[in-house]
Amino acid sequence: MAVTRTFSIIKPDATRRNLTGAVTAKLEEAGLRVVASRRIRMSQAQAEGFYGVHRERPFFADLCAFMVSGPVVVQVLEGENAVQRNRDVMGATNPANADAGTIRKELAESIEANSVHGSDSEENAATEIAYFFKPDEIVG
Ligand code: RTP
Ligand code: MG
Repeated sequence: MAVTRTFSIIKPDATRRNLTGAVTAKLEEAGLRVVASRRIRMSQAQAEGFYGVHRERPFFADLCAFMVSGPVVVQVLEGENAVQRNRDVMGATNPANADAGTIRKELAESIEANSVHGSDSEENAATEIAYFFKPDEIVG
């Protein structure tokens, strides 16, 4: 299996509860390596651009408001089959449906305040990484 990269965000509900380390520990335990990381306060324009694919969804405005409500940690993760590996450790979007041991089951508050984002394909991972990081900011 090839070593690949994916994009992760530790969302405002997790930073607010001081769970940056707890989330990162779960990612690392799952075999993912943090090769870039930055704590930022997303602007409204950044959030709307990042979640542009969800623009027509009923939860779009609430989601963007949530993502700018506090600091987030944007990260690039590296590992074998990184996109799927990260999705597996994140768990289902709604923590009520997430498997035991996943980040969302253990730590998330709700379907919206679900502690982490993870890219859902290799193609989107590349786009999302480039949205927040320059190549020389990623040190593998
Ligand atoms: P993410 O993109 O954040 O990794 O999460 P995901 O793929 O599991 O979920 P997605 O369908 O892409 O939705 C993006 C984020 O929007 C919020 N959401 N709220 N209120 C709702 O019904 C609802 N549904 C989704 C969540 O924060 C979700 O992670
Ligand atoms: Mg998604």
